[in-house]
Amino acid sequence: MKNTEKYQRGYYMPPVKCMKWAEKEYVDHAPAWCSVDLRDGNQALIIPMSLDEKLEFFTKLVEVGFKEIEIGFPAASETEYEFCRTLIEKNMIPDDVTIQVLTQSREHIIKKTFEAIDGAKNAVVHLYNSTSVAQREQVFKKSKEEIIDIAVTGAKLCNEYKKNAEGNIVFEYSPESFTGTEPEFARDICNAVIDIWQPTPDNKVIINLPVTVEMSMPHVYAQQVEYMCDVLHNRENLIISLHPHNDRGCAVADCEMGLLAGADRIEGTCFGNGERTGNADIVTIAMNMYTHGVDPKLDFSDLPSLVELYERVTRMKVYERTPYSGALVFAAFSGSHQDAIAKGMNWRKENNLVRWTCPYLPIDPKDVGREYEGDVIRINSQSGKGGIGYIMETRFGIDMPPKMRESFGYVVKSVSDHAHKELMPDEIKEIFYNTYVNREDKIKVKEAHFVQGDGITSKVTIEYKGDTITAEGKGNGRLDAVSNAVKEALGFNYSLITYKEHALEVTSKSKAVCYVGIQTQKGVFWGAGIHTDIIDASVSALMSAINNSDLTE
Ligand code: KIV
Ligand code: ZN
Repeated sequence: MKNTEKYQRGYYMPPVKCMKWAEKEYVDHAPAWCSVDLRDGNQALIIPMSLDEKLEFFTKLVEVGFKEIEIGFPAASETEYEFCRTLIEKNMIPDDVTIQVLTQSREHIIKKTFEAIDGAKNAVVHLYNSTSVAQREQVFKKSKEEIIDIAVTGAKLCNEYKKNAEGNIVFEYSPESFTGTEPEFARDICNAVIDIWQPTPDNKVIINLPVTVEMSMPHVYAQQVEYMCDVLHNRENLIISLHPHNDRGCAVADCEMGLLAGADRIEGTCFGNGERTGNADIVTIAMNMYTHGVDPKLDFSDLPSLVELYERVTRMKVYERTPYSGALVFAAFSGSHQDAIAKGMNWRKENNLVRWTCPYLPIDPKDVGREYEGDVIRINSQSGKGGIGYIMETRFGIDMPPKMRESFGYVVKSVSDHAHKELMPDEIKEIFYNTYVNREDKIKVKEAHFVQGDGITSKVTIEYKGDTITAEGKGNGRLDAVSNAVKEALGFNYSLITYKEHALEVTSKSKAVCYVGIQTQKGVFWGAGIHTDIIDASVSALMSAINNSDLTE
């Protein structure tokens, strides 16, 4: 595909080197967050949210901790006007939350915008006009001076309308399509607006630098942001805000590098909804900070409920692999991953660790409201003994000997492979019980009595393929004595190679589980026994292993 003539880099580098940000390593404090879910997010939906849906989403955003929420473009749409009025009139905006409204730089729109926010305690009036070369030439067909004039006129009108407004009004200006604008021109137009608004320490102005269309790699945007931070008038009284869209898939990186470059504020949406490829995903940015030990000042400890609400009201889906929030982002199907996670979790428990170091899991799933069982170890034909053993142990209290885990792993994989499906924990338990526990199909011990003398003598009644046989055997333990009696009576040739027992704590304290492995000429076979009596459990385990072996074929 020949593209060199059709496509060229459409962004502009700052006239001077702006690389101080590159010396910094990570974002060390939370920015001011502004959710634009109800504006940029809503305007990108196939079916925009209803009033009730918006009110519900707004309440959830407040619950998560957003202190600034853009609620729409009230002068442009009746629904958005009504939404704004409802929030104000129904007193739904907490005192520490600021609503933000968007307006073009036209008098009747600015006037209506101020009417919409009448009675709001705190509001940001967000003024914007397009500044890129493409928009100036193709859409507005105006010179740079004329474009500056649009912004300046709007800024002056905002000053006028603010005089009669009662609440705390903060101004925001966006040179829309900033990333396609020459940085020097972006500087000039922003400075012209700043000079009119005259920010002070008590009345700061937000300058928003939108990646309206993402055109470059994130380090280029960082240089543009650093340049603006260096050249804007009255910088100490400005809040530099970022608003990246995700056309190249780097909106989160744009935000992170832009914060290193000096920005103070992020506008974005939950899960990255928004125009075209969406806005920057605030959940990811905040949780990235969280995993570096920095408090993001947003609470995503119940992400599943946010996902549920979001999917319901926007009719969008959170993609399964979306960082932190996707359904499969903690899931490990592969055997080696499961094994490492299971070992990591045990290591954590044994060493009483606070710090999260578990392999393959960048974050403790519990911190975002997810579970280890069900969310992490997922069983299909790719899985292995580690994960299957982990589920059996943590969920059902079955702690098999390592070699038996391995063998059970193959059984489960094969079931999943044949059924072509993922297996749920209860299905795995059922496979375990059906395969190993208290098997009596061909052979069972009906009764066993023991006499202690020089070693232990057992007297057993065996039922084997319909016949009842009595037998005696000696051994250095009860199980050994039963085993020898069976061998002698039926001429079986095998050796007991593994024995393990423990209390079955999860299901019932009063039961014991025993595991037995026997070696015959054809291989190793496993059985388990579960009983209230430990001797019965061990004998059942042995019988299960024999039932599973070639001896009874
Ligand atoms: O993406 C954008 O440029 C915008 C502006 C209105 C800030 O949404
Ligand atoms: Zn936008």
